[in-house]
Amino acid sequence: MSLAIHPKVLATTYSDRVAKMVVAERTEPAEGIAGFVLADPGGGDLPRWTPGAHIDVVIGDVVRQYSLCGDPADRKGWRIAVLREAGGRGGSARIHDTLRAGTTVEVRGPRNHFMLEEAPSYVFVAGGIGITPIKAMVGEAEAAGADWRLYYGGRSMSTMAFTSELTATYGEKVTIVPEDVEGRLDLAGILSAPATGTLVYACGPEGLLAALEDVCAPFPKGTLRTERFAPRDALFSDDDKPFEVTAEQSGVTVTVEPGRTILHALDEAGVMVFSSCEEGICGTCETRVIAGTPDHRDSVLTDLDRERGDVMMICCSRAISDSLVLDI
Ligand code: FES
Repeated sequence: MSLAIHPKVLATTYSDRVAKMVVAERTEPAEGIAGFVLADPGGGDLPRWTPGAHIDVVIGDVVRQYSLCGDPADRKGWRIAVLREAGGRGGSARIHDTLRAGTTVEVRGPRNHFMLEEAPSYVFVAGGIGITPIKAMVGEAEAAGADWRLYYGGRSMSTMAFTSELTATYGEKVTIVPEDVEGRLDLAGILSAPATGTLVYACGPEGLLAALEDVCAPFPKGTLRTERFAPRDALFSDDDKPFEVTAEQSGVTVTVEPGRTILHALDEAGVMVFSSCEEGICGTCETRVIAGTPDHRDSVLTDLDRERGDVMMICCSRAISDSLVLDI
């Protein structure tokens, strides 16, 4: 992802901290993956976070989001793991090439749009680097005494981070499936008969998540919770129509034409909202809806969030109604 930064903020629902942090440690948890421990330069305690949270790492003019994958009780260091993406736009390569122990880096957050909801049992599914948020979640599920299983697939054992740690800590609750030896995760088999009340949390490549959506379709709404690396839906469609948006706090009304986003239309009118991915996957631009019906196109909100309709991601979502009134 190549992400734009809006440095001036006139109106926003984003209230996360921005901080300079120092790389306290760099490791290689798997082939092509760099692990970093980020710390307060003065050795102070870091803000608390919950499993599923991610931070923005800002390097020059790009921002990348990474899930915190360490122990939430550790107030001295935030752990992230960064996959060097061969076909990416250079952000992960820049992080691999520039961050060393002792390097300072700007960090925003943490922010959590992938919270672990309390449940009697969980099925966790991770694909590749998608293990990062899931790793913290299994720790919480274990601490809560929940019944849980983790199914973790990847290309090969050498490219899969944290396998030894997970199996050593949790034993048979963890199933590791390297594709080159065992093929892909058997999702239909894994979810053939989940116990009542089971929640399914998954993070990984789009193919895995789309297949999981199919397998979980018969289950009660809200059973499957996913975090995506890439947008699920296209930003624009040929059927898009113009609509009006009023930023109530700012006293500004704009028309959002097809091919434009609410974020950009407001930005042009001087109402700047913090954004990051601008693809509907990070949750930074989440905005409260006062009136009107959003046409949700993000990959962050759950089906239940969408039904409630009281918040939306303005970097990608549009309006079903002729107009929207937003709390910015
Ligand atoms: Fe990432 Fe809108 S900026 S969801």
